[in-house]
Amino acid sequence: MKKQQIIQLLGSSLLASALLVGCGGGTDTTTGMGDGGQGNGSSGNMGNQGDGSEEGAGSNIPYLRTNHANYKEHGSNLTPAPVKDANAKSINWTIAATTEEGAIKLQEHLKFMEDKLLADQNPRGWDKLFLMEAYMKYNRYYTTAVERSGTNVVVSKNANTACAYEVISAHSDAVSGDFFAQGEIMNDYSATAESILASSACDAVRTSLETYISQRQMGRGRGN
Ligand code: HEM
Repeated sequence: MKKQQIIQLLGSSLLASALLVGCGGGTDTTTGMGDGGQGNGSSGNMGNQGDGSEEGAGSNIPYLRTNHANYKEHGSNLTPAPVKDANAKSINWTIAATTEEGAIKLQEHLKFMEDKLLADQNPRGWDKLFLMEAYMKYNRYYTTAVERSGTNVVVSKNANTACAYEVISAHSDAVSGDFFAQGEIMNDYSATAESILASSACDAVRTSLETYISQRQMGRGRGN
């Protein structure tokens, strides 16, 4: 089946599900604005390896890291790469796993992380880019929709502000360039986050974001 057909097929059901629940995974997330993510997240410490296992078994991060080369851009032998549309503020992925188990593990990873972010938690709480993404998700500045069909996983992220778009765009670069391409998850993207935060795109939320980061940032290897 051609890539365009897959996108159209999954796109229409994606749109349907996104419209239905606002974010993938069927949980009702449209409970309106949170408290701006201002300091009610608990800060557990589930181990200290910094290799992603501290995020909890359900994250599938150790599996994804080990199997990073078993995911391809659909219809090619290339590393999965995000399709970005700055005007639409959208990031789309069509990822083909070499096995159905691999596709399921990735889908579970996205559901696990979505639930964490909507529960006002901070995976990779030492990395400012991930802190900013958590802030954007909790405050509904972007949505994520995920659909799996066999070994294919389509991810659609849509932001409603320029600042949120810059954050999910930078995150997608890390996922493609480090996580998928090399299985490298130890780099810190805080400097990238700081330049986004300093940009005019984030004027409206800079103070609130800086407060959020100062309240939430943890030492490396800790998450919740
Ligand atoms: C410490 C390691 C990791 C953490 C804390 C992490 C966390 C996250 C979070 C918070 C999201 C966004 C979820 C949402 O927007 O609803 C995400 C998305 C994603 N992750 Fe991970 N992840 C990690 C490692 C990996 C690895 C190793 C891979 C693959 C090899 C991977 C693949 C993806 C993909 C494809 C997405 C969706 C695309 C996107 O958000 O642009 N992640 N992850």
